[in-house]
Amino acid sequence: MTDRKATLSVGDKSIEVPVYSGTVGPDVIDVRGLVQEGVFTYDPGFVSTAACESAITYIDGANGVLLHRGYPIEQLAEHSDYLEVCYLLLHGELPSAEENQKFHDTIKNHTMLHDQMRNFFQGFRRDAHPMAIMCGVVGALSAFYHGEMDVASQEQREITAHRLIAKMPTIAAWCYKYAIGQPFIYPRNDLSYSENFLQMMFGVPCEEYKPNPILAKAMDKIFILHADHEQNASTSTVRLAGSTGANPYACIASGIAALWGPAHGGANEAVLDMLAEIGDESNIEKFIAKAKDKDDPFRLMGFGHRVYKNFDPRAKVMAETAHEVLTELGLENDPLLKIAQRLEKIALEDEYFVKRKLYPNVDFYSGLILKAIGIPTSMFTVIFALSRTIGWFSHWNEMVSGDYRIGRPRQLYTGSDSRDYPTK
Ligand code: CMC
Repeated sequence: MTDRKATLSVGDKSIEVPVYSGTVGPDVIDVRGLVQEGVFTYDPGFVSTAACESAITYIDGANGVLLHRGYPIEQLAEHSDYLEVCYLLLHGELPSAEENQKFHDTIKNHTMLHDQMRNFFQGFRRDAHPMAIMCGVVGALSAFYHGEMDVASQEQREITAHRLIAKMPTIAAWCYKYAIGQPFIYPRNDLSYSENFLQMMFGVPCEEYKPNPILAKAMDKIFILHADHEQNASTSTVRLAGSTGANPYACIASGIAALWGPAHGGANEAVLDMLAEIGDESNIEKFIAKAKDKDDPFRLMGFGHRVYKNFDPRAKVMAETAHEVLTELGLENDPLLKIAQRLEKIALEDEYFVKRKLYPNVDFYSGLILKAIGIPTSMFTVIFALSRTIGWFSHWNEMVSGDYRIGRPRQLYTGSDSRDYPTK
C-alpha cells in the first residue's frame, strides 16, 4: 500500500509509522502500531482521525465538494433519482437501464410491512416523538428477520438492503399517521418512490391521493441529498455497532438514535423551531447577538458544519428546490421564509460567521421545503433517517464484506489511580 513513513518522536523514542494516500484527500498516518510502543493517539471528536478505509463517498470540505462513488452530488440531484443513487451507493456503479428497472421493481416488492408490525406502532404513546417510534420499529425488524440473516452472506445482505430501502418510507409515514390518529395507508406500487411516500403521508382511505409532481420531485431531491455523507456520527455509530457482528436492522436503529440529536439530523427540526422563535425580522439582530455570545448556548441552527468550511454543496441544490416548491405553492411571501432569507443574508456578512466559515448547511433549507409540503417539524429527522438508511447500510455492507475488527477506542484516563476500598 505504501513505502512512505512518518517519524514520531515521543520522549527519547523515535517511532516510524506508515503513511498511506487515498485516491484524493489528505494522506493518513497509520498509528495502529503505536499501542505496542505504549502510546495512544488522542483525538476527541475524531477531528483528525480516519476510522476506516472506504470507497463510497468523498467530501472536500474546503472546496464544497461531495462525491458519491465519484459522481458530484449536483449532477446526481439533476440527472438521477433516489433509487438509482441507492443502487450506486450500494453497488459502486450506476445501473444500466435494465438493472435500474429491475432494482426499482425489486424495491416495490418489499414496500409492505409484516402485518404484525402494526402492533409495534400501537404500543407507543400517541404523543411519542416519531424518531423514538422509528428507532423502535426499525430495531424491531431484527426480530422479524434475525434467523435468516447471515452477515457473511452477500445474497442476504442484498435482500436486507432491499427491505430497508423499501420499508423505510412505510415506517416513516406510519409514524406520522399513528401520531395524528389516522389509519395507516398501505404502499402503492404504481407510484414512484417519493410519490408513494407522499401518498402514505397525506392519503386517506376515503379519497384517491394524486401526488403533485413538483412536490414529489422535491421530496426525491431531499432523499438524494441526504443519502450519504461519509463517516459522520450516525454512520460511524452504525459501523461501530456492526463491527460486533450485530443484526443489521439493529445497527440501522443505532444510526437512527445517533442521527436524532440537534447537532446532527435533528438540526432541520431545530431550524424551524428557531425561525418560529425568532418570530419576526425585527428580532433577528437579537438572535445573531445570542449566537455570538460565548456565555449563551444558543447557536444558529442550520449554520456551520464540521467538514464544509466553504459551502455545503447540498445547501445550494436545496436552496433552488426550496424556491421551486415555494413558488409552486404560492408561498414566496411566507413569513418564516422571509426570516430565513434575511437571517442568511445577515449571517453571511457578519464577521463572526465569516471568520469561522459558518455557512448555511443542507438543513437550513430542507426544513423550509418540508414545512411547505405540509410535513410537521417532528417528522423532519425521520425523513433524514429514511434517506440516510442507504448510506448507513452501504457503509455497514462495505465493512462486513471485507476484513474488519471490532471497533474499540481507547482513552486518556484522568480518574483516580488505584486506591483501597474504605473498610471503616
Ligand atoms: N452558531 C454560532 N456559532 C457557531 C455555530 C452556529 N451554528 N457553529 C459553530 N459555531 C462557532 C463555535 O462557537 C466555535 O466558535 P469559537 O471558535 O469562537 O469557539 C466555532 O464556530 C467552531 O465551532 P465548533 O463547535 O468547534 O464546530 P464543530 O465542527 O464541532 O461543529 C456543528 C459543527 C455542525 C455541530 C456546529 O456548527 C453546529 O452546532 N451547528 C448548528 C447545528 C447544525 O446546523 N447542525 C447540522 C449539521 S449539517 C447536517 C449533518 O451533517 O448532520
